[in-house]
Amino acid sequence: MLLTINNLDVTLGGLQILQDVSLHVDEGELVVVVGANGTGKSTLLRSISGM
Ligand SMILES: Nc1ncnc2c1ncn2[C@@H]1O[C@H](COP(=O)(O)OP(=O)(O)OP(=O)(O)O)[C@@H](O)[C@H]1O
Ligand SMILES: [Mg+2]
Repeated sequence: MLLTINNLDVTLGGLQILQDVSLHVDEGELVVVVGANGTGKSTLLRSISGM
């Protein structure tokens, strides 16, 4: 297991940006996050990076 996220919520500026996000990445796996503009992809990666 390389990365596990369980039930991640992120609120920025009083708005809930991410709600109940869970994902799992195993060694050798490639996981892609897909979504329309402004749906929270960068917010997810910033959260994983601790930014
Ligand atoms: N620092 C912040 N404060 C308040 N709202 C924010 C902040 N950063 C991002 N948001 C909002 O969070 C939502 C998700 O933004 P985010 O940049 O994560 O989306 P994205 O999926 O990466 O978009 P794109 O495809 O355009 O790159 C947007 O509504 C954005 O306005
Ligand atoms: Mg982005």
